[in-house]
Amino acid sequence: MNDSHRNIRHMNDSPLKPTPTRHGIVLAMQEELEALLERLPEVQTFSRGAFTFWQGYLGNQEVCAIKSGVGKVNAAMSTQALIDYFTPEVLWVVGVAGALSPDLHIGDVLLGVEALQHDIDASALGFLPGEVPYDERSTYVADARLITCAQKVGGELFGARFKTGRVLSGDRFIAGSDEVRRLRERFAGDCVEMEGAAVAQVAQKNKLPFVIIRTISDRADGQAPQDFPRFLKEAAKDVALFIERLILSC
Ligand code: ADE
Repeated sequence: MNDSHRNIRHMNDSPLKPTPTRHGIVLAMQEELEALLERLPEVQTFSRGAFTFWQGYLGNQEVCAIKSGVGKVNAAMSTQALIDYFTPEVLWVVGVAGALSPDLHIGDVLLGVEALQHDIDASALGFLPGEVPYDERSTYVADARLITCAQKVGGELFGARFKTGRVLSGDRFIAGSDEVRRLRERFAGDCVEMEGAAVAQVAQKNKLPFVIIRTISDRADGQAPQDFPRFLKEAAKDVALFIERLILSC
């Protein structure tokens, strides 16, 4: 998208304005960022090192978004930077995911009530697959108050397309039915993506409430490499709509 078509002020050379922002939004991809920016009437961007922050208002709520890039390391770094510079009170993790549950279909909108990393594995040392050795916890639970509110808003917006479930995150794009079966059996995941649990882990360590919102872009099967790019844009629009309503209502 061409910035000249929208009201974006680039503040890259000015000192980073560390205004506390109530809502931090972490999204991985350009399409997801663009769908959100469509809903922000005025935006200021700030750059620091590898990070660009997009600050604006949804209604009267100040928000700051960061495009993390794909994967758990990018997600964790970006989340910590967002927290350090903008001190958000709430973290919203938004984007797309592949379905693991047979009850989820492309276009469904999933509210992640908990998340874990499916690809961390120190089982040779006696830890469970998915367990972060020596950490207090390995499954990150979304904020109860936000979940209650998001359930109401999601149901109103998306009807039968709205679901809740467990998010699995890992540094792999899943594109095979055997892998789907394995993840479902081993971790009881409903959907799979590549950032949510990493953001959640950082949120938990910073004692911040978080919620994960994912639209289903593919079924994580052999068709996923074709479905993912085809549905990404539409899926990102639904997520942006949802996050706007959530931030105004919850
Ligand atoms: N994000 C969207 N679809 C995905 C998939 N199939 N695997 C991992 N992350 C995804």
